[in-house]
Amino acid sequence: MENNLKYFIITLGCQMNKSDSERIAAMLEKRGYQPAAKEADADLIIMNTCSVRQSAMDRVFGLAKNLTEIKKKNPRLKTVLTGCVLPEDFKKTQKMFDYILSIKNLAQWPEYFGQEQFFQAFDMTQKDCSYFNQKPKYSNSYSVFIPISNGCSNFCSYCAVPYTRGPLVLRSHKEIMIEAENAINNGAKEIWLLGQNVNDYNDKGINFAKLLKMINELPGNFWIRFTSPHPKEFTSEMIEAIARSKKMTPYFNLPMQSGDDEVLSRMRRSYKIGEYKSLVKRIRAAFSSQRQGLEKELALSTDIITGYPGETRDQYISTLKAMEEVGYDMAYIAKYSPRPGTVSSWLPDNVSQKEKDTRWKYLTQLLEKTALAKNKKFVDETIEVLIDEQRKDVILGKSRHFKTVKIRLPKDSNENFTGQFVKAKITAALPWGLEGDLA
Ligand code: SAH
Ligand code: SF4
Ligand code: F3S
Repeated sequence: MENNLKYFIITLGCQMNKSDSERIAAMLEKRGYQPAAKEADADLIIMNTCSVRQSAMDRVFGLAKNLTEIKKKNPRLKTVLTGCVLPEDFKKTQKMFDYILSIKNLAQWPEYFGQEQFFQAFDMTQKDCSYFNQKPKYSNSYSVFIPISNGCSNFCSYCAVPYTRGPLVLRSHKEIMIEAENAINNGAKEIWLLGQNVNDYNDKGINFAKLLKMINELPGNFWIRFTSPHPKEFTSEMIEAIARSKKMTPYFNLPMQSGDDEVLSRMRRSYKIGEYKSLVKRIRAAFSSQRQGLEKELALSTDIITGYPGETRDQYISTLKAMEEVGYDMAYIAKYSPRPGTVSSWLPDNVSQKEKDTRWKYLTQLLEKTALAKNKKFVDETIEVLIDEQRKDVILGKSRHFKTVKIRLPKDSNENFTGQFVKAKITAALPWGLEGDLA
């Protein structure tokens, strides 16, 4: 079905949005749209946005201005806003796009395109993730995102997700298994299981630990990764499944957000920092005792918010100390950004920008130190790397521990390594990655 129309998708935000964009692309191509090489060539531009911080929405407002310019040149152009849009931003963005559409109604989009304009307010009560049925057009066939749930019902005080994606809805485990199997049969080397809170997963008695084991048992040479778990309800069964599954890589993200109990409680995070630290100890112990024949060292990353309303200097110092104690390989450190409509948006955003910048800087400096120390352990080791970029004389990829590895190629090499596992001998460690030679 050829329709002579071209589409271009701009994706902001997390893997969840990237995964959704793959379903949008597939739906459009099924209806005859072709991908455009650049925005200016497109007849349909889709902005799949994020609302987790104001900076992402500011980019939408910035890009929307460009769209007006492109529209002057191509009057046929239609624009869609989708993804994570807060109810508060819905009105503001209506003037900028032809359509505002919920991803949950992806199958109905072509009907809406039949109308001049269509604005669909996001329905928070819609408990549905049937759009996952749409077979995706994976951005790359060797590393695939597989959503296992949508939304979140945790309502952490600062977070936009429950308002933009709605309540937690689980995808059926059968559907997940079919997608995983197909992806592996089509050459996937890495499977990312996605959900805002993967340990809340439980479909008809199949909880996350069981799902992980089932995927681990699928035949094939591939890695398993997931994001994100929540420190609450991180059961012993889950720890065991992660440590014992051969295909599970020794890396994941465990969001801490703050190292201070009072701040954690005001964030509605439902764990104390002591509990978080002992969880990490339990996981590390399970890795060293149960991961027979596999890496016994876990690489851990985290998410931190600095400058939460009322966060005192001492409370920020607690975060710094907790980060040092846990010793992260990586951390995604964010400056608090009030999201309209969330619980904490009613609190005064009273840590100054300057103070947030300072706290961010010191947390990042500490991370640099711990990350470098972790990375140095890999020097002289030979490790496996899944390549995702090939340049003239280097290839880049991620190791099982999710380290970015830059590998020098021999002069006469003209092989294409993208999407392949290679072995690299590590020669140098930097805070944000490793360097090595092809082994
Ligand atoms: N489901 C994950 C996080 C999803 S949002 C969890 O429970 O941890 C991704 C990250 O964005 C969060 O971990 C948090 O660190 C950051 N974030 C969310 N809301 C934010 C806000 N209002 N300001 C700054 N950072 C925020
Ligand atoms: Fe947001 Fe909390 Fe849900 Fe994570 S668990 S998506 S931070 S509400
Ligand atoms: Fe992801 Fe941003 Fe939505 S982090 S879930 S795209 S609000």
